[in-house]
Amino acid sequence: MTEIAITRTTTPNQPPADETLTFGKVFTDHMFRMEYDAGRGWHDPRIVPYGPFTLDPATCVLHYGQAIFDGMKAFRGGDGLVRLFRLPDHARRLNRSAQYLCIPELDTDVVEESIRALVEIDQRWVPSLPGTSLYIRPTVIATETFLGVHPSSSYIYYVILGPVGAYYKEGMNPVRILASDTLVRAVKGGLGAAKTAANYAASLYGAEQAQQQGYTQVLWLDGVEHRYLDEVGTMNIMLRIDDEVVTPPLNGAILAGITRDSVLRLLRDWGLRVSERPVAIDEVIAAAQASRLEMWGTGTAAVISPVGELGYKGERYVINGGRTGELTQRLYDTIVGIQYGAAPDPYGWTRLLGNRLGG
Ligand code: COI
Repeated sequence: MTEIAITRTTTPNQPPADETLTFGKVFTDHMFRMEYDAGRGWHDPRIVPYGPFTLDPATCVLHYGQAIFDGMKAFRGGDGLVRLFRLPDHARRLNRSAQYLCIPELDTDVVEESIRALVEIDQRWVPSLPGTSLYIRPTVIATETFLGVHPSSSYIYYVILGPVGAYYKEGMNPVRILASDTLVRAVKGGLGAAKTAANYAASLYGAEQAQQQGYTQVLWLDGVEHRYLDEVGTMNIMLRIDDEVVTPPLNGAILAGITRDSVLRLLRDWGLRVSERPVAIDEVIAAAQASRLEMWGTGTAAVISPVGELGYKGERYVINGGRTGELTQRLYDTIVGIQYGAAPDPYGWTRLLGNRLGG
């Protein structure tokens, strides 16, 4: 087991009331950090008071975006216990993102331990109101000081935590998404499958335009034909057309969502017909017009988010009467039930805090 040095804050803050929580605005008292230096590897794992970094203006990440992160959650159940959801899968995904960005691999045991130890120290920050959770953000940034394009020789890995409520202001109410036929988030062969700053930067302009037209988010289409669904940027996309559940395949242009994976597992175990296949925007519109469509997004932050309206080329298509579909609701209830420990966890997805062998 990794030896983690701990320095506790002398000025602890008061967590906000659960009812006031939004997303990503409040952070806990401590953070985890360790550094990488070429020739030395990852070193000095420690938990310290939450606080700013001092970075030279020529720091690599500020210019060339060599940065990765992940996002996962801890939940406090009605039994008062705290559960981490799919921690090993998030640690492995962080390493896959690292490969895309030429960032040195992390020991997944250390990543798991860093998160577990930090959540343990700040566990009074895990909210308990239904729908709230503790969001966990492991991050790696390139810290070598230079101008010129090559991988950094030094990095900081750090983890921060924050209590959160719903990601969308709509909560569990259906969101409206706009399919862009001009802008592109990522293309096959690019960084689309990595959880890296660049993908989010690429989404900002389109998201702002969508919001100006009254939409919550952009539905990104493939970067070559602008025809096939990719993802929403903050979540993977899924549809039920009649009795088939369809979601775009992991083709290198979209993120391998862990909620996506959980939902596919549930759907298959429920005996539904599930296809990971390319799905064209025309097929979606035809199904919406014929009232044969239910649509939702999946993501750690977004959980299961129903889609009530789709915009495309100046037209608006109402989906499932603008209401949350039955299957969407069932998925939400099941995933949330497992996350909060209210339902059995036959997949072993959750780990109780303070119980290294699982919960
Ligand atoms: C997550 O779902 O964890 C993400 O990182 C998405 C981000 C938009 C908050």
